[in-house]
Amino acid sequence: MGEPGHSRRALLKGVGGLVAACPFAASVARAEPHVTDAPLANHASQDDRTPFYGARQAGVVTPRPAHGMVASFAVVADDADALEALFRRLTERIAFLTAGGPVPVLDPKLPPADSGLLGPVARPDGLTVTVALGASLFDDRPWLRPLKPKRLTRMTRFPNDALNADLCHGDLTLQICANSQDATIHALRDIIKSIPDQLILSWKQEGAVPVVAPGPDGTAESARNFLGFRDGSANPDSRDEALMDRVVWVGAGDGEPDWATGGSYQAVRIIRNFVERWDRTPLGEQERIMGRSKMTGAPLDKLSASEFVGPDYAQDRDGRLTPLDSHIRLANPRDAKSDANLILRRPFNYSNGVTRSGQLDQGLLFICYQADLDAGFISVQRRLDGEPLEEYVKPVGGGYFYVLPGVETPSDHLGRALVAAAREPRDG
Ligand code: HEM
Repeated sequence: MGEPGHSRRALLKGVGGLVAACPFAASVARAEPHVTDAPLANHASQDDRTPFYGARQAGVVTPRPAHGMVASFAVVADDADALEALFRRLTERIAFLTAGGPVPVLDPKLPPADSGLLGPVARPDGLTVTVALGASLFDDRPWLRPLKPKRLTRMTRFPNDALNADLCHGDLTLQICANSQDATIHALRDIIKSIPDQLILSWKQEGAVPVVAPGPDGTAESARNFLGFRDGSANPDSRDEALMDRVVWVGAGDGEPDWATGGSYQAVRIIRNFVERWDRTPLGEQERIMGRSKMTGAPLDKLSASEFVGPDYAQDRDGRLTPLDSHIRLANPRDAKSDANLILRRPFNYSNGVTRSGQLDQGLLFICYQADLDAGFISVQRRLDGEPLEEYVKPVGGGYFYVLPGVETPSDHLGRALVAAAREPRDG
């Protein structure tokens, strides 16, 4: 089967070669990081812009900046006109916020046009706002029900879950990512203020990715999660368009409603980590639970290799080197069938404070994208059910959502094809 780590390593090697040959290539290497590369120290600028217009929304295969959040809303709209008005308003705000610009000055007798968090000019700071829809938006509206993406369901409980109803599901989510926390909060407050009659905030979870110094060739290692392991090493290569078309994006022949072409399924899980317990667990046990070296990220059967080299389970059938129940081996057994279950992970670490029992409330805001939710997240999570890592993690929230196709031009808007389909007369 195709091994994502290999193609990614090849690309990095290729980029390294380019750097040596061409003085401008270093910026090429840095301009094209992989989704889960740690953001590079001193490389983010408040003027960073991630293009908003395109056939697909930003924030899925685009590199992860240092901050991210998922905010989930109930939607008020109960007919196609109201839904269109919501999508148009969202499009307008996201187009402005991701491009940046001066904040309008209003009469001081009125509330200011902007929260002011970013000063008189709202600079984009690498902002992306990715809009996705939950099953309830369709289920609760008979005129939208027939248009629900085929595999979009309300997330149900897995055996290790302790789901808090206040942190689950929603009609519409915004995944907001930027170089700074201020830019994500500024965007959220702008949208809440701009669309008060249509969106009611239900829950949100913020997270961050540790920033690292670049290696000598300008590239980055995978960021570490709060268990101290590199997270993202074996992620499919987000720069490989053909691979993303297969793994992440819904295509015209995928059996989904026509309006959904160019979208993707988003699975969100708020997974608490019992970090105090983990920090008292022997290093060897931690590594056997994960299936990789903690410091380098190398697979356990190739300890001197880089994190981007995949394990070879064919040479270790009994799991002597990489235990059969290790996280990476269960998540991706790398056999003929598991190639169909690839997902693109784009997580953030979260740190929320202290629980009532005096423990750190930390964990992973796990977000992944796939063209088929059943073959992707749900199949992988079923294989992980009962894994030894469960002693240290507890999913408490999240949901399944469908990322709308992108907005191609300034005259287009989010959800245009969905609203048009909802207006079409239907038989019966
Ligand atoms: C707090 C919870 C989790 C932690 C701490 C965690 C951590 C890790 C780490 C350290 C790796 C190895 C490096 C890498 O390839 O990224 C990994 C790999 C992976 N994880 Fe997780 N993970 C968590 C939850 C999940 C969940 C919920 C899923 C999906 C249901 C998942 C799917 C995967 C997959 C597919 C791989 C790549 C395996 C491979 O191809 O070798 N993980 N995870």
